[in-house]
Amino acid sequence: MPSTYTPGHNPLRSSADKRLPRIAGPCSVVIFGVTGDLSKRKLMPAIYDLANRGLLPPSFALVGFARRDWEDQDFAKEVHDAVREHARTKFDEDVWAQLSKGIRFVAGEFTDDAAFAKLASTLHELDEQRGTGGNHAFYLSIPPRFFSVVTEQLKRSGLSHSVEGAWRRVVVEKPFGHDLESARELNEILGQVFPSGSIFRIDHYLGKETVQNLLALRFSNTMFEPLWNCNYVDHVQITMAEDIGIGSRAGYYDGIGAARDVIQNHLLQLMALTAMDEPTSFDARSVRLEKEKVLAAVELPADLDAHTARGQYLPGWQGGIPVKGFLQEDNIPADSITETYAAIKLEVANRRWAGVPFYLRTGKRLARRVSEIAVVFKRAPHLPFQATDTQELTSNALVIRVQPDEGVTIKFGSKVPGTQMEVRDVTMDFAYGDSFTENSPEAYERLILDVLLGEAPLFPRHEEVEMSWEILDPILDHWASRGQPPGYDSGGWGPIQADDMLARDGRSWRRP
Ligand code: BG6
Repeated sequence: MPSTYTPGHNPLRSSADKRLPRIAGPCSVVIFGVTGDLSKRKLMPAIYDLANRGLLPPSFALVGFARRDWEDQDFAKEVHDAVREHARTKFDEDVWAQLSKGIRFVAGEFTDDAAFAKLASTLHELDEQRGTGGNHAFYLSIPPRFFSVVTEQLKRSGLSHSVEGAWRRVVVEKPFGHDLESARELNEILGQVFPSGSIFRIDHYLGKETVQNLLALRFSNTMFEPLWNCNYVDHVQITMAEDIGIGSRAGYYDGIGAARDVIQNHLLQLMALTAMDEPTSFDARSVRLEKEKVLAAVELPADLDAHTARGQYLPGWQGGIPVKGFLQEDNIPADSITETYAAIKLEVANRRWAGVPFYLRTGKRLARRVSEIAVVFKRAPHLPFQATDTQELTSNALVIRVQPDEGVTIKFGSKVPGTQMEVRDVTMDFAYGDSFTENSPEAYERLILDVLLGEAPLFPRHEEVEMSWEILDPILDHWASRGQPPGYDSGGWGPIQADDMLARDGRSWRRP
């Protein structure tokens, strides 16, 4: 719906007064894959935190579906333990008592018609007894190969079909396919059962407070946007570095790798938000439209050997502790060619960004856990100082610190106190902890609440997913044809090839 312009109206707030908390209406959430890691570490704790913050209605229900011989109370205990271990807000007996009254469990296989009939009757009972109002969100926290059977079952049991005055939504987690073709197939499978407005694809980076702040920073201020283009920006570096290895996720990670796991979704989304033009409003349609224009304008370098890099972490030390190499991890074949580090150079062929490289990198077992977007500016065209006085002056940069030390840093040159005109880099910092007393909600809290409210701006639509695969597929094919990736030291900053890649352009990676 196009928004009308009102002088003084802040486009980041779409309705009259957003100071009132947004509270979900009566509904239930059904989680498939409830015994999985994501469900325990993120989904159940986020649901509890939402309840604890008063953002879920009393008539809320949580239903688990899995192949376990559990009764409702066994599942409730699982949720309780997950909440105790991972919730961010303090445990409150009253909140828990209220939430746990609406917890149900349905045991069964995805192919079991009787289990889906039981699910339908359970949801019907909840509508009657708890007042969930026929509003149901189905969270598919399961490998994509099961999407087809589960959505078919939901259709067959009448659960996907929304009745008058109520909603049915489906939530899917990445990976959204393995390449463009499989992503299209998945989108078709979902689209056969749910209308596109009822499909919510989770990219948890979009739920992060700092990522949303990128929009506030760019579009609620006057001082950044005039510089946000190829006249002033030299290049952009988007980094998601992790210090952990793959842990026990060999089954998921092998054959997927860093580019599919992180670049296809999180980093291309961050790039789209960084590069996009101002949307006409912050409704889902306008934001997605602007992101899609960026993705459509992305160009790959001709020489993929020179302008991409990949690697696998080697055995070594991290933080004084010996760590295994990727090929030695449990359940990873000794000849796996899956990359645990990926860096790529992209350009956005439009008037705003012509000639400005966007360097995207991600890796496991790197020196530290840090995600950031660094907009690096061109050097001043002329420096009226002696060359020796500006030796310690590099480029101005604006860095959005996505995590863990959330905030924004501006790097610029300043005179060193003293009798000489010596100019050196200094930084000006905004830290969330210093400026706000409110804690940032966890990404999953924000995103689950948005699903329940039916607000879609933070969820990529299938066009974006497919465009991202279109960008990545040629790189992945190229890497596959090159065989084994080079190794890199655990605890460092990735393979030497990644440094060479930037050095060829006369640049270097930031060491955040
Ligand atoms: C997930 C990836 O999407 O993001 C994981 O699948 C990665 O491999 C995780 O560890 C990191 O998320 P965050 O929020 O800790 O940066």
